[in-house]
Amino acid sequence: MNEQLPATAYLTAVARAEATLDPACDLVDEYAARFAELCPPSVRAITAHTGGLSVVAARTTTIDAMLTRALERRAPGVFVNLGAGFDARPYRLDPGAWPPGCRVVEVDVASILDVKDRLLPPAEAAVPIERVRCDLRFLGDLDRALRPRTEGERLLLLAEGLLTYLPEPQLAGLARTLAGFGASASWICDALSTDSARVLTRASRGAGSKLTMYGLTDVRAFEENGWRCEDISLLPTARVQRSAGPGVGATSQLPDCVLSLRR
Ligand SMILES: C[S@@+](CC[C@H](N)C(=O)[O-])C[C@H]1O[C@@H](n2cnc3c(N)ncnc32)[C@H](O)[C@@H]1O
Repeated sequence: MNEQLPATAYLTAVARAEATLDPACDLVDEYAARFAELCPPSVRAITAHTGGLSVVAARTTTIDAMLTRALERRAPGVFVNLGAGFDARPYRLDPGAWPPGCRVVEVDVASILDVKDRLLPPAEAAVPIERVRCDLRFLGDLDRALRPRTEGERLLLLAEGLLTYLPEPQLAGLARTLAGFGASASWICDALSTDSARVLTRASRGAGSKLTMYGLTDVRAFEENGWRCEDISLLPTARVQRSAGPGVGATSQLPDCVLSLRR
């Protein structure tokens, strides 16, 4: 794994902490500042070049709405947050949003979840949380971790800000593995257009970061691996691309968006 990938959890926290202080922004995440304070200056510098803070906040509020609807409609027994980072939804969402008996499983690397355990103890959440240390590139490890925790369950999966760091073959493998879990499953995840991925990769290079973002031209990586796309919400960057007229975004068919998938 690129050693800077876990740093993106801090960048997301910085974005949410700044959005929380901005009265013009709908997002309120009172937990984000705890993690944002720990963001190394070299990592924080990346945000100056990408201008992506408002995009993260918009993505998070879009996903909040989709997730709240899915929790109500699907009443999952297990909610799995892949690349959970410092996401505080089990603390931040209305406690009544969680269906009775629902358990939360958060998956990320140990260096992130160790910090999270310290600053956001599972015992203070509205729902039972288990934190699973696992590198998502190793699908055998993921299978061993998640299969026993999801057997026979109605499953709701989330991957926010994660898939854009996976090359398409890795994404396809992850989608195939996830399609094998639970009795039924829904999955909410965001995706970038190939144009946006190129722009963001160039911007992070400009800030001295080696992070590479990957865009998608279509949803084949999901649909060829057991998932069907039920719904799509455009992110603000996609709206800008579209309103900019012909020629802008011409090479990408999938806009920056949040997908709701079903198996
Ligand atoms: C942009 S952050 C988003 C975090 C979280 N989803 C949120 O919205 O606050 C991406 C997260 O994915 C995690 N991640 C990236 N690659 C991973 C991998 N191969 N295995 C486990 N976690 C990974 C990072 O550690 C980081 O926490």
